[in-house]
Amino acid sequence: MSTRADWTHLFAHRASVRGGEELAAILAGTPPGVLPLTGGFPNPATFATDVLGEIAARLLRDEPGVALQYTPVKGLPSVRDHLEERQEALQGRRPDPGELMVTSGGMECIALACAAMLEPGDAVAVEGPTYLGALMAFAGAEADVHEIPMDEDGLVVEALEERLQDGLRPKLLYVIPEYQNPTGRTLPLERREALVELCRRHGVLILEDVAYRELAWGGTSLPTLWSLAPDAVVQAGTFSKVFFPGVRLGWAAGPETVVAQLAAAKANTDQCAGALGQRMVEEYGRAGHFERELPRACALYASHWRALDGALRAHMPAGVAWTEPAGGFLTWLTLPEQLDATALRDAATGAGVAYVPGVPFYASGGGANELRLSFSALGEDDLAEAGRRLASVVRSAL
Ligand SMILES: Cc1ncc(COP(=O)(O)O)c(C=O)c1O
Repeated sequence: MSTRADWTHLFAHRASVRGGEELAAILAGTPPGVLPLTGGFPNPATFATDVLGEIAARLLRDEPGVALQYTPVKGLPSVRDHLEERQEALQGRRPDPGELMVTSGGMECIALACAAMLEPGDAVAVEGPTYLGALMAFAGAEADVHEIPMDEDGLVVEALEERLQDGLRPKLLYVIPEYQNPTGRTLPLERREALVELCRRHGVLILEDVAYRELAWGGTSLPTLWSLAPDAVVQAGTFSKVFFPGVRLGWAAGPETVVAQLAAAKANTDQCAGALGQRMVEEYGRAGHFERELPRACALYASHWRALDGALRAHMPAGVAWTEPAGGFLTWLTLPEQLDATALRDAATGAGVAYVPGVPFYASGGGANELRLSFSALGEDDLAEAGRRLASVVRSAL
């Protein structure tokens, strides 16, 4: 009989500091009967399957030599050209050749920035709280992560300024300016302008994550940090929320030297994003489907939000507060101080509702009485019921 070998002593240190149990739990889903307010997943009703099927069939029939082949590291030239046009149409500035590359999703862009820029011990500044996947990437790069506080309007720029004046020297500032994950907050224009000016002055490269930007319920968006300061910002974009995450496709736009460095890192990992997905996004975009489909998706998420918000307003006891997003999938709920969202999770699951506790979204602790709710996936009736269930759990705990 063979004994099982123990390989764990071979594991890299960075694998053990990465964390990620919470992310794995979100991706694993919830038990039957439990209404999930967990994953930031796009609603499958927004997947334009008929159009996608027609585009995929056409590409396989007409150009298998391109769509089923490897691509250049930075992406197919026609796809890059289309993404450059999209930047111009949506953000008012066309990247120069060399300032944009295709990535295998927004998360890959963050991972490439880590691989390309960070030595162990390098300082990175983040919003507190921020996106779990980015925190895991920075931890995996063995970065020294510094949290900058937020208020209702997002990152507090004066707080960053104080930290910089006190000697903090981050290589990167990671920021999600609209409908932030996990808080749903949006950074106002004056703060955007102040932030890019401050970071320029201190030589801090901004890593701007625009994952939810195109899901603006009111239809308009503020200028991106990249459009305000293309010399000082690398933008991580994704098609996961507006197209479909199964395609694993995004982009990086930034200073040419930095994009070249990211491309060198990509050549060391998956070498290129999938050609079929690249050509599908291009065909979909050039045919105007984003303009047709996105307003529908935004209307869906806005009505989802109203259903959840209505239930929370109707049933939550006094002393509970939550953010009011103007787009995206997420709201951030603060319980009375004495309640612990992690400890309450089992009771919530027992009552048939799941959420993500706040603690893992903070780089340096805190958030015990906070939690994230996603309203993207469930329908309106389920959201109303989930809000009611959550409120009854909080009432019982008080
Ligand atoms: C803020 C943010 N950035 C990036 C991503 C990851 O995007 P992708 O699926 O393209 O890797 C997500 C996904 O939830 C996200 O919320």
